[in-house]
Amino acid sequence: MTDDRLIVALDVPNVLDGLALAEKLGDQVSFYKIGLGMLTGGGLALANELKQDHGKRIFLDMKLFDIGATVEAAVRGIAQFNLDFLTVHGDPYVVRAAREGAAGSDTKILAVTILTSLDRADLDHACMKDGTIPDLVVERAGQAFAAGADGVIASPQEAKLIRALPEAEGKLIVTPGVRPVGADLGDQKRVTTPGEAIANGADHVVVGRPIWKAADPAKAAHDILAELSSPQALSPNR
Ligand code: C5P
Repeated sequence: MTDDRLIVALDVPNVLDGLALAEKLGDQVSFYKIGLGMLTGGGLALANELKQDHGKRIFLDMKLFDIGATVEAAVRGIAQFNLDFLTVHGDPYVVRAAREGAAGSDTKILAVTILTSLDRADLDHACMKDGTIPDLVVERAGQAFAAGADGVIASPQEAKLIRALPEAEGKLIVTPGVRPVGADLGDQKRVTTPGEAIANGADHVVVGRPIWKAADPAKAAHDILAELSSPQALSPNR
């Protein structure tokens, strides 16, 4: 059974650990996220190996944020590898620059709305404007779509509101902050179960620690995939 709605976050330190985990998970997992934690551990090499030699889809989670020219140059460099998804922060000028950089490649640009680990108190500390998190997430998602993002990253709790935006038509919603019932929340604050995330309109769920920290990662992934195929997980979007 492969179901690319599940994206496994390979938040392990290096290529060897990443390959070992991918081997344990086997054919049932077809989509991996590689992020900043593996930047110095060969993350890009692993991304290319998993894509080219193992036929996996790859989400490179770089959360780029800089002046437009630098974002564009960084995205152009990454886009030559034709990985599937790449994240940038959702500020409209960043998204526009990323689109320019990705022109001519198959890489889809996903905009980060507000990190799923943050709550309102964290936004206050970051001097982010007043408003509830769902309102701010929806505003940032709308701006990112208008700037040309192929999709957004958001909490599964906000997926339903984003899916309802007219600008979200044909766009991807990818949700980290997903926890099977009973799993440790870690630092995630705005979570749902995988099935609820899909039912809320997410196209893909990103799951890290509940899989890679599990005593039996293959079983943990299998259980999540089983939940995704249950009728409760039917997306209104499909
Ligand atoms: O271990 P866990 O399931 O919480 O992993 C979630 C993954 O999704 C991590 O790699 C984290 O960096 C990423 N992520 C997130 N919130 C976002 C964007 C990405 O948690 N808004």
